Amino acid sequence: MELDPRFAQTLVDIVAAELNQNVNITDNHGVIIASFSKERISHIHEAAAKMLLSGPIREFSVTDKEERQLKGVRAGFNVPIMVNDCCVGVIGVSGEPHTAAPYTRLAARFVEAALESNARQEKLVRALLEKEELQSTLLNKVISVQEEERKKISRELHDETSQALTSIIVGLRVLSEHVHSENERMKILEMRDLVVTTLEAVHHLAVQLRPALLDDLGLVAAAQKYIENYSRQYNIFVDLAVVNLSRQRFLPEIEITLYRILQEALTNIAKHAKASKVKVTLKKHKGRLMLIVKDSGIGFNAKRISGTASDNCLGIHGMHERVALLSGDFTIHSSEGEGTTIAVEIPIRQHKKTESGLGQAH
Ligand SMILES: Nc1ncnc2c1ncn2[C@@H]1O[C@H](COP(=O)(O)OP(=O)(O)OP(=O)(O)O)[C@@H](O)[C@H]1O
Ligand SMILES: [Mg+2]
Repeated sequence: MELDPRFAQTLVDIVAAELNQNVNITDNHGVIIASFSKERISHIHEAAAKMLLSGPIREFSVTDKEERQLKGVRAGFNVPIMVNDCCVGVIGVSGEPHTAAPYTRLAARFVEAALESNARQEKLVRALLEKEELQSTLLNKVISVQEEERKKISRELHDETSQALTSIIVGLRVLSEHVHSENERMKILEMRDLVVTTLEAVHHLAVQLRPALLDDLGLVAAAQKYIENYSRQYNIFVDLAVVNLSRQRFLPEIEITLYRILQEALTNIAKHAKASKVKVTLKKHKGRLMLIVKDSGIGFNAKRISGTASDNCLGIHGMHERVALLSGDFTIHSSEGEGTTIAVEIPIRQHKKTESGLGQAH
Protein backbone atom coordinates (compact mmCIF):
# COMPACT_ATOMS: atom_id res chain seq x y z
CA MET A 1 0.00 0.00 0.00
CA GLU A 2 1.28 3.46 -0.83
CA LEU A 3 0.71 6.83 0.74
CA ASP A 4 -0.96 9.33 -1.53
CA PRO A 5 1.28 12.47 -1.56
CA ARG A 6 -1.70 14.81 -1.88
CA PHE A 7 -3.41 13.28 1.13
CA ALA A 8 -0.10 13.36 3.04
CA GLN A 9 0.42 17.05 2.18
CA THR A 10 -3.10 17.97 3.35
CA LEU A 11 -2.42 16.26 6.67
CA VAL A 12 0.96 17.95 6.98
CA ASP A 13 -0.63 21.36 6.33
CA ILE A 14 -3.31 20.77 8.98
CA VAL A 15 -0.92 19.48 11.66
CA ALA A 16 1.67 22.15 10.90
CA ALA A 17 -0.92 24.93 11.13
CA GLU A 18 -2.28 23.52 14.39
CA LEU A 19 1.09 23.07 16.12
CA ASN A 20 3.01 25.82 14.41
CA GLN A 21 5.83 23.32 13.85
CA ASN A 22 7.52 21.74 10.87
CA VAL A 23 5.90 18.48 9.82
CA ASN A 24 6.94 15.98 7.19
CA ILE A 25 5.90 12.58 5.92
CA THR A 26 8.22 10.16 4.13
CA ASP A 27 7.36 7.14 2.03
CA ASN A 28 8.52 3.63 2.99
CA HIS A 29 12.05 4.36 1.68
CA GLY A 30 12.50 7.57 3.66
CA VAL A 31 11.88 9.92 0.73
CA ILE A 32 10.00 13.02 1.91
CA ILE A 33 6.67 13.09 0.03
CA ALA A 34 5.00 15.89 2.00
CA SER A 35 6.51 18.64 4.07
CA PHE A 36 5.65 21.99 5.61
CA SER A 37 8.79 23.30 3.88
CA LYS A 38 7.93 22.36 0.34
CA GLU A 39 11.52 22.56 -0.91
CA ARG A 40 12.34 19.45 1.15
CA ILE A 41 9.93 17.27 -0.84
CA SER A 42 11.76 14.45 -2.69
CA HIS A 43 14.76 14.79 -0.38
CA ILE A 44 15.88 11.83 1.65
CA HIS A 45 15.16 11.98 5.36
CA GLU A 46 18.38 10.31 6.43
CA ALA A 47 17.29 9.24 9.90
CA ALA A 48 14.01 7.74 8.64
CA ALA A 49 15.77 6.03 5.72
CA LYS A 50 18.31 4.50 8.09
CA MET A 51 15.61 3.21 10.44
CA LEU A 52 13.52 1.81 7.56
CA LEU A 53 16.52 0.13 5.94
CA SER A 54 18.20 -1.40 8.98
CA GLY A 55 15.21 -1.74 11.32
CA PRO A 56 13.74 -2.37 13.75
CA ILE A 57 10.73 -0.27 12.81
CA ARG A 58 10.21 2.07 15.72
CA GLU A 59 9.52 5.59 16.86
CA PHE A 60 12.59 7.79 17.19
CA SER A 61 13.51 11.29 18.19
CA VAL A 62 16.11 13.50 16.53
CA THR A 63 18.28 15.75 18.65
CA ASP A 64 19.56 19.21 17.71
CA LYS A 65 22.98 17.68 17.21
CA GLU A 66 21.65 15.04 14.83
CA GLU A 67 19.74 17.73 12.98
CA ARG A 68 23.05 19.39 12.21
CA GLN A 69 24.68 16.12 11.15
CA LEU A 70 21.97 14.45 9.06
CA LYS A 71 20.46 15.67 5.82
CA GLY A 72 16.73 16.38 5.50
CA VAL A 73 16.27 15.94 9.24
CA ARG A 74 14.67 18.25 11.80
CA ALA A 75 14.99 17.84 15.53
CA GLY A 76 11.73 16.39 16.74
CA PHE A 77 9.74 13.20 17.02
CA ASN A 78 9.09 10.57 14.31
CA VAL A 79 6.49 7.79 14.19
CA PRO A 80 6.23 4.98 11.63
CA ILE A 81 2.91 4.65 9.80
CA MET A 82 1.89 0.98 9.93
CA VAL A 83 -0.78 -0.71 7.80
CA ASN A 84 -1.28 -4.48 8.00
CA ASP A 85 2.03 -4.86 9.84
CA CYS A 86 3.87 -3.06 7.03
CA CYS A 87 5.50 0.30 7.39
CA VAL A 88 4.26 2.60 4.62
CA GLY A 89 6.10 5.74 5.77
CA VAL A 90 7.16 7.94 8.63
CA ILE A 91 5.62 11.13 9.98
CA GLY A 92 7.84 13.60 11.82
CA VAL A 93 6.95 16.73 13.85
CA SER A 94 9.69 19.14 14.84
CA GLY A 95 10.14 20.51 18.34
CA GLU A 96 10.81 19.13 21.78
CA PRO A 97 10.35 15.33 21.46
CA HIS A 98 8.16 14.97 24.57
CA THR A 99 5.80 17.73 23.34
CA ALA A 100 5.78 16.56 19.71
CA ALA A 101 5.37 12.83 20.51
CA PRO A 102 1.61 12.71 21.33
CA TYR A 103 0.68 14.80 18.27
CA THR A 104 2.94 12.78 16.00
CA ARG A 105 1.45 9.51 17.25
CA LEU A 106 -2.07 10.87 16.82
CA ALA A 107 -1.30 11.98 13.26
CA ALA A 108 0.22 8.57 12.45
CA ARG A 109 -2.87 6.73 13.81
CA PHE A 110 -5.08 9.06 11.76
CA VAL A 111 -3.16 8.28 8.55
CA GLU A 112 -3.32 4.55 9.32
CA ALA A 113 -7.09 4.70 9.90
CA ALA A 114 -7.61 6.63 6.67
CA LEU A 115 -5.47 4.19 4.67
CA GLU A 116 -7.26 1.17 6.14
CA SER A 117 -10.65 2.64 5.39
CA ASN A 118 -9.47 3.45 1.85
CA ALA A 119 -8.25 -0.12 1.39
CA ARG A 120 -11.57 -1.49 2.66
CA GLN A 121 -13.45 0.76 0.29
CA GLU A 122 -11.25 -0.23 -2.65
CA LYS A 123 -11.80 -3.88 -1.81
CA LEU A 124 -15.56 -3.36 -1.72
CA VAL A 125 -15.54 -1.49 -5.01
CA ARG A 126 -13.42 -4.25 -6.60
CA ALA A 127 -15.78 -6.92 -5.28
CA LEU A 128 -18.75 -4.97 -6.57
CA LEU A 129 -17.19 -4.55 -10.02
CA GLU A 130 -16.37 -8.25 -10.17
CA LYS A 131 -19.93 -9.07 -9.19
CA GLU A 132 -21.32 -6.75 -11.85
CA GLU A 133 -19.01 -8.29 -14.44
CA LEU A 134 -20.17 -11.77 -13.44
CA GLN A 135 -23.78 -10.69 -13.53
CA SER A 136 -23.52 -9.32 -17.03
CA THR A 137 -21.64 -12.44 -18.20
CA LEU A 138 -24.41 -14.60 -16.77
CA LEU A 139 -27.10 -12.41 -18.25
CA ASN A 140 -25.34 -12.58 -21.59
CA LYS A 141 -25.30 -16.37 -21.31
CA VAL A 142 -28.97 -16.57 -20.32
CA ILE A 143 -29.99 -14.40 -23.25
CA SER A 144 -27.86 -16.35 -25.72
CA VAL A 145 -29.15 -19.72 -24.49
CA GLN A 146 -32.70 -18.40 -24.65
CA GLU A 147 -32.17 -17.14 -28.22
CA GLU A 148 -30.57 -20.43 -29.25
CA GLU A 149 -33.45 -22.40 -27.74
CA ARG A 150 -36.03 -20.18 -29.47
CA LYS A 151 -34.23 -20.66 -32.77
CA LYS A 152 -34.23 -24.45 -32.32
CA ILE A 153 -37.92 -24.63 -31.40
CA SER A 154 -38.80 -22.27 -34.25
CA ARG A 155 -36.92 -24.43 -36.75
CA GLU A 156 -38.50 -27.59 -35.35
CA LEU A 157 -41.97 -26.05 -35.65
CA HIS A 158 -41.25 -24.89 -39.16
CA ASP A 159 -39.50 -27.96 -40.50
CA GLU A 160 -41.24 -30.78 -38.64
CA THR A 161 -44.61 -29.71 -37.27
CA SER A 162 -45.61 -27.54 -40.22
CA GLN A 163 -44.61 -30.25 -42.69
CA ALA A 164 -46.64 -32.84 -40.80
CA LEU A 165 -49.69 -30.55 -40.67
CA THR A 166 -49.35 -29.81 -44.40
CA SER A 167 -49.34 -33.54 -45.11
CA ILE A 168 -52.47 -33.98 -43.00
CA ILE A 169 -54.19 -31.14 -44.92
CA VAL A 170 -53.33 -32.76 -48.25
CA GLY A 171 -54.38 -36.18 -46.92
CA LEU A 172 -57.71 -34.87 -45.69
CA ARG A 173 -58.42 -33.21 -49.03
CA VAL A 174 -57.66 -36.45 -50.89
CA LEU A 175 -59.79 -38.38 -48.38
CA SER A 176 -62.69 -35.96 -48.85
CA GLU A 177 -62.68 -36.75 -52.55
CA HIS A 178 -63.03 -40.46 -51.86
CA VAL A 179 -65.98 -40.52 -49.50
CA HIS A 180 -69.48 -40.87 -50.91
CA SER A 181 -71.56 -39.36 -48.17
CA GLU A 182 -71.84 -35.58 -48.40
CA ASN A 183 -72.12 -35.42 -44.59
CA GLU A 184 -68.81 -37.26 -44.11
CA ARG A 185 -67.15 -35.09 -46.76
CA MET A 186 -68.24 -31.93 -44.92
CA LYS A 187 -66.88 -33.30 -41.66
CA ILE A 188 -63.52 -34.07 -43.27
CA LEU A 189 -63.34 -30.59 -44.81
CA GLU A 190 -64.20 -29.03 -41.45
CA MET A 191 -61.37 -31.02 -39.93
CA ARG A 192 -59.11 -29.85 -42.72
CA ASP A 193 -60.03 -26.20 -42.03
CA LEU A 194 -59.16 -26.75 -38.39
CA VAL A 195 -55.76 -28.13 -39.35
CA VAL A 196 -55.22 -25.13 -41.70
CA THR A 197 -55.95 -22.76 -38.77
CA THR A 198 -53.58 -24.76 -36.57
CA LEU A 199 -50.89 -24.58 -39.25
CA GLU A 200 -51.27 -20.79 -39.38
CA ALA A 201 -50.97 -20.59 -35.59
CA VAL A 202 -47.86 -22.78 -35.63
CA HIS A 203 -46.35 -20.64 -38.36
CA HIS A 204 -47.12 -17.48 -36.38
CA LEU A 205 -45.56 -19.00 -33.27
CA ALA A 206 -42.43 -20.03 -35.19
CA VAL A 207 -42.02 -16.49 -36.54
CA GLN A 208 -42.57 -14.95 -33.10
CA LEU A 209 -39.97 -17.24 -31.61
CA ARG A 210 -37.35 -16.48 -34.20
CA PRO A 211 -38.08 -15.02 -37.63
CA ALA A 212 -35.97 -16.72 -40.28
CA LEU A 213 -35.95 -13.33 -42.04
CA LEU A 214 -33.79 -11.87 -39.28
CA ASP A 215 -31.08 -14.43 -39.85
CA ASP A 216 -31.44 -14.48 -43.62
CA LEU A 217 -32.07 -10.84 -44.58
CA GLY A 218 -31.33 -8.84 -41.46
CA LEU A 219 -32.93 -6.32 -39.16
CA VAL A 220 -34.64 -3.98 -41.63
CA ALA A 221 -36.39 -6.77 -43.51
CA ALA A 222 -37.41 -8.56 -40.30
CA ALA A 223 -38.68 -5.31 -38.76
CA GLN A 224 -40.71 -4.51 -41.88
CA LYS A 225 -42.33 -7.94 -41.82
CA TYR A 226 -42.97 -7.85 -38.08
CA ILE A 227 -44.60 -4.43 -38.33
CA GLU A 228 -46.74 -5.54 -41.26
CA ASN A 229 -48.13 -8.51 -39.30
CA TYR A 230 -48.45 -6.44 -36.13
CA SER A 231 -50.49 -3.70 -37.84
CA ARG A 232 -52.81 -6.31 -39.29
CA GLN A 233 -53.18 -8.20 -36.02
CA TYR A 234 -53.83 -5.22 -33.73
CA ASN A 235 -55.23 -2.74 -36.21
CA ILE A 236 -52.63 -0.14 -35.18
CA PHE A 237 -51.05 2.00 -37.86
CA VAL A 238 -47.25 1.85 -37.71
CA ASP A 239 -45.13 4.19 -39.79
CA LEU A 240 -41.64 2.76 -40.26
CA ALA A 241 -38.87 5.14 -41.30
CA VAL A 242 -35.54 3.61 -42.26
CA VAL A 243 -32.81 6.26 -42.40
CA ASN A 244 -29.31 5.79 -43.79
CA LEU A 245 -29.74 2.02 -43.88
CA SER A 246 -30.68 -0.36 -46.60
CA ARG A 247 -30.25 -4.09 -46.27
CA GLN A 248 -26.99 -3.62 -44.44
CA ARG A 249 -26.13 -6.36 -41.94
CA PHE A 250 -24.82 -5.84 -38.41
CA LEU A 251 -23.46 -8.09 -35.73
CA PRO A 252 -26.08 -10.73 -34.91
CA GLU A 253 -26.28 -9.63 -31.28
CA ILE A 254 -27.07 -6.07 -32.35
CA GLU A 255 -29.73 -7.19 -34.80
CA ILE A 256 -31.43 -9.56 -32.36
CA THR A 257 -31.29 -7.00 -29.53
CA LEU A 258 -32.97 -4.29 -31.59
CA TYR A 259 -35.48 -6.75 -32.98
CA ARG A 260 -36.45 -7.97 -29.48
CA ILE A 261 -36.75 -4.38 -28.26
CA LEU A 262 -38.98 -3.50 -31.20
CA GLN A 263 -41.11 -6.57 -30.42
CA GLU A 264 -41.43 -5.68 -26.72
CA ALA A 265 -42.08 -1.98 -27.37
CA LEU A 266 -44.82 -2.75 -29.91
CA THR A 267 -46.30 -5.45 -27.66
CA ASN A 268 -46.41 -2.92 -24.80
CA ILE A 269 -48.19 -0.46 -27.07
CA ALA A 270 -50.80 -3.09 -27.99
CA LYS A 271 -51.19 -4.11 -24.33
CA HIS A 272 -51.10 -0.78 -22.52
CA ALA A 273 -50.98 2.34 -24.72
CA LYS A 274 -54.42 2.50 -26.34
CA ALA A 275 -52.67 4.14 -29.30
CA SER A 276 -53.87 4.07 -32.86
CA LYS A 277 -50.64 5.40 -34.37
CA VAL A 278 -47.01 4.46 -33.86
CA LYS A 279 -43.86 5.80 -35.45
CA VAL A 280 -40.83 3.53 -35.64
CA THR A 281 -37.47 4.88 -36.79
CA LEU A 282 -34.43 2.77 -37.56
CA LYS A 283 -31.41 4.85 -38.30
CA LYS A 284 -27.65 4.70 -38.61
CA HIS A 285 -25.88 7.81 -37.39
CA LYS A 286 -22.21 8.43 -36.50
CA GLY A 287 -21.34 4.78 -35.99
CA ARG A 288 -24.44 4.07 -33.95
CA LEU A 289 -27.57 2.16 -34.74
CA MET A 290 -30.73 3.75 -33.37
CA LEU A 291 -34.23 2.54 -32.81
CA ILE A 292 -36.98 4.93 -31.78
CA VAL A 293 -40.52 3.76 -31.07
CA LYS A 294 -42.97 6.57 -30.43
CA ASP A 295 -46.65 6.11 -29.70
CA SER A 296 -49.42 8.61 -29.19
CA GLY A 297 -51.16 6.61 -26.50
CA ILE A 298 -52.09 7.20 -22.87
CA GLY A 299 -48.51 7.16 -21.56
CA PHE A 300 -47.49 6.28 -18.01
CA ASN A 301 -45.24 7.40 -15.21
CA ALA A 302 -41.91 6.03 -16.48
CA LYS A 303 -40.04 7.08 -13.31
CA ARG A 304 -41.88 4.43 -11.32
CA ILE A 305 -40.57 1.71 -13.64
CA SER A 306 -36.94 2.76 -13.93
CA GLY A 307 -35.89 1.07 -10.66
CA THR A 308 -35.77 -2.67 -10.24
CA ALA A 309 -37.78 -5.15 -12.23
CA SER A 310 -40.90 -6.41 -10.56
CA ASP A 311 -42.09 -9.95 -11.16
CA ASN A 312 -44.63 -9.00 -13.76
CA CYS A 313 -42.93 -5.98 -15.32
CA LEU A 314 -39.92 -7.49 -17.02
CA GLY A 315 -40.28 -5.96 -20.45
CA ILE A 316 -38.78 -2.51 -19.90
CA HIS A 317 -36.16 -3.85 -17.52
CA GLY A 318 -35.19 -6.51 -20.08
CA MET A 319 -34.78 -3.84 -22.81
CA HIS A 320 -32.50 -1.91 -20.46
CA GLU A 321 -30.35 -4.93 -19.68
CA ARG A 322 -30.01 -6.03 -23.29
CA VAL A 323 -28.87 -2.56 -24.37
CA ALA A 324 -26.39 -2.29 -21.49
CA LEU A 325 -24.77 -5.57 -22.58
CA LEU A 326 -23.93 -3.91 -25.90
CA SER A 327 -22.68 -0.71 -24.21
CA GLY A 328 -25.61 1.18 -25.68
CA ASP A 329 -27.99 3.82 -24.33
CA PHE A 330 -31.63 3.26 -23.51
CA THR A 331 -34.08 6.03 -22.73
CA ILE A 332 -37.78 6.05 -22.15
CA HIS A 333 -39.88 9.20 -22.10
CA SER A 334 -43.45 8.95 -21.07
CA SER A 335 -45.96 10.85 -19.06
CA GLU A 336 -49.62 10.23 -18.52
CA GLY A 337 -51.68 11.41 -21.49
CA GLU A 338 -48.62 12.30 -23.55
CA GLY A 339 -47.65 9.02 -25.20
CA THR A 340 -44.42 7.10 -24.88
CA THR A 341 -41.09 7.21 -26.69
CA ILE A 342 -38.45 4.54 -26.39
CA ALA A 343 -35.04 5.33 -27.84
CA VAL A 344 -32.12 2.94 -28.13
CA GLU A 345 -28.64 3.64 -29.45
CA ILE A 346 -26.04 0.93 -29.90
CA PRO A 347 -22.47 1.46 -31.11
CA ILE A 348 -21.98 -0.61 -34.25
CA ARG A 349 -18.43 -1.83 -33.56
CA GLN A 350 -17.53 -5.14 -31.92
CA HIS A 351 -17.98 -5.20 -28.16
CA LYS A 352 -15.70 -6.99 -25.75
CA LYS A 353 -18.60 -8.14 -23.57
CA THR A 354 -20.25 -9.92 -26.47
CA GLU A 355 -17.32 -11.61 -28.10
CA SER A 356 -18.64 -14.78 -26.54
CA GLY A 357 -22.14 -15.56 -25.39
CA LEU A 358 -24.77 -13.55 -27.19
CA GLY A 359 -22.90 -13.64 -30.44
CA GLN A 360 -22.62 -17.42 -30.41
CA ALA A 361 -26.33 -17.85 -30.35
CA HIS A 362 -26.65 -17.16 -34.03
N1 LIG B 1 -46.23 2.24 -24.54
C1 LIG B 1 -46.77 2.23 -23.32
N2 LIG B 1 -47.87 2.98 -23.06
C2 LIG B 1 -48.43 3.01 -21.83
N3 LIG B 1 -47.95 2.33 -20.78
C3 LIG B 1 -46.86 1.56 -20.96
C4 LIG B 1 -46.21 1.46 -22.24
N4 LIG B 1 -45.15 0.65 -22.11
C5 LIG B 1 -45.14 0.25 -20.83
N5 LIG B 1 -46.16 0.79 -20.14
C6 LIG B 1 -46.42 0.65 -18.70
O1 LIG B 1 -45.22 0.20 -18.08
C7 LIG B 1 -45.42 -1.00 -17.39
C8 LIG B 1 -44.19 -1.86 -17.47
O2 LIG B 1 -43.99 -2.37 -18.78
P1 LIG B 1 -43.20 -3.71 -18.94
O3 LIG B 1 -43.09 -4.00 -20.38
O4 LIG B 1 -41.96 -3.62 -18.15
O5 LIG B 1 -44.14 -4.77 -18.22
P2 LIG B 1 -45.49 -5.42 -18.73
O6 LIG B 1 -45.70 -5.13 -20.18
O7 LIG B 1 -46.57 -4.99 -17.80
O8 LIG B 1 -45.20 -6.97 -18.50
P3 LIG B 1 -44.17 -7.88 -19.31
O9 LIG B 1 -43.18 -8.35 -18.29
O10 LIG B 1 -44.99 -8.96 -19.88
O11 LIG B 1 -43.53 -7.04 -20.37
C9 LIG B 1 -46.65 -1.60 -18.01
O12 LIG B 1 -47.34 -2.44 -17.10
C10 LIG B 1 -47.47 -0.38 -18.37
O13 LIG B 1 -48.18 0.08 -17.25
MG1 LIG C 1 -44.14 -5.51 -21.55
